[in-house]
Amino acid sequence: MRILITGGAGFIGSALLRFLFSETDHELLNFDKLTYASSLSSLPEKIKCSERYELCRGDICDPIQTKKVINRFQPEAIIHLAAESHVDRSIDGPQEFISTNVNGTAILLETVTSYWETLSKNEQSDFRFLHVSTDEVFGSLGAEGKFSEKTPYAPNSPYSASKASSDHLVRAWNHTYGLPTIISNCSNNYGPYQFPEKLIPLMITNALNGKKLPIYGDGQQIRDWLHVDDHVTALYHLLRYGKVGESYAVGGNNERANLDVVASICQILDSILPSLNGDSYYSLIEFVEDRPGHDQRYAIDASKIYNELGWKPRENFDSGLAKTITWYVENRDWCEAIKLNNYDEQRVSSR
Ligand code: NAD
Ligand code: DAU
Repeated sequence: MRILITGGAGFIGSALLRFLFSETDHELLNFDKLTYASSLSSLPEKIKCSERYELCRGDICDPIQTKKVINRFQPEAIIHLAAESHVDRSIDGPQEFISTNVNGTAILLETVTSYWETLSKNEQSDFRFLHVSTDEVFGSLGAEGKFSEKTPYAPNSPYSASKASSDHLVRAWNHTYGLPTIISNCSNNYGPYQFPEKLIPLMITNALNGKKLPIYGDGQQIRDWLHVDDHVTALYHLLRYGKVGESYAVGGNNERANLDVVASICQILDSILPSLNGDSYYSLIEFVEDRPGHDQRYAIDASKIYNELGWKPRENFDSGLAKTITWYVENRDWCEAIKLNNYDEQRVSSR
């Protein structure tokens, strides 16, 4: 199968490409703008040199480039990950999020639909457009309950509002034009090659550099963590077995308070790489001003994908976190290199 992946140089997209390259024989095209969040060194040379893989640098907001690559590659499936993905940046500067996540998705949908309409009936029904979205579209939970496919949309940040808009566009393209779409709404991912502005890699890299570990507010906000390698197997599962026109909540049942996650990181680092002055990394924790509009709790009820499609995550959070920390300890060069893509290590403006 020919699969076009948007955002394949990002954290999840590169994990997806590594998985699809090693576990399948599909032909893969990576359509990516190569923003600050991308890293081509997340892909091994054996992929980059392979005839089964092609990189096309391009912007989903550009209809000409997008049409050209789709018409040339003739994809049988598209997995759409390209996005601006960081909540704090969306608070500082929402426009880029509206541009890529909303307008870019609309342009991609329009271009894909024009191409899809030229296919034979069989090719049309086999075609898939898998839209990779987030649980943040559902807003924030209190102490009880979980997000599922039935949860009403209530996005709180500019990022989540832009992703919610993109979900609605995808749904509308299925309903109106019949484009065979599937949406996934996944919880927080962690693992290797994640840009060190997100909680887990930021805390690890700051600790390794002897810098403060900034906890927003009281650190009692809860996120539901899923290893990125589990997310990509879920995506491939959805591509093959997901029902057209439906959405799927994806998660791994790993709810943790932020402060507990950071404490675990410090504890693991203390055991594998004690600091030179003998202090626990925990002493670097600093409580800082909260994120504006900070969502309190995310938790996923993934029973639909578990029960209807038979997908299950494999990684357990404690071992997954330990492996992730070891990866960052061993790949400090990768972190330094990607930060040179213009990252100033600041959270958010004074707003
Ligand atoms: P990321 O920021 O690491 O990577 C995004 C990629 O998209 C980058 O390679 C970037 O260059 C590319 N890109 C950005 N704008 C583009 C444009 N206009 N045209 C083409 N390419 C563009 O993001 P990620 O964490 O890998 O997330 C990927 C997708 O998964 C996003 O859609 C995000 O909303 C969703 N998601 C992320 C998480 C998470 O925890 N990271 C969880 C659920 C869903
Ligand atoms: O839930 C899925 C979403 O998870 C994805 O859609 C987003 O793309 C992804 O960025 C992530 O969003 P979060 O806002 O949950 O992730 P982040 O890593 O930015 O923050 C996780 C939690 O940690 C959140 O409650 C804010 C807090 N935090 C974050 C940073 C960067 C801190 O306390 N200190 C920090 O320095």
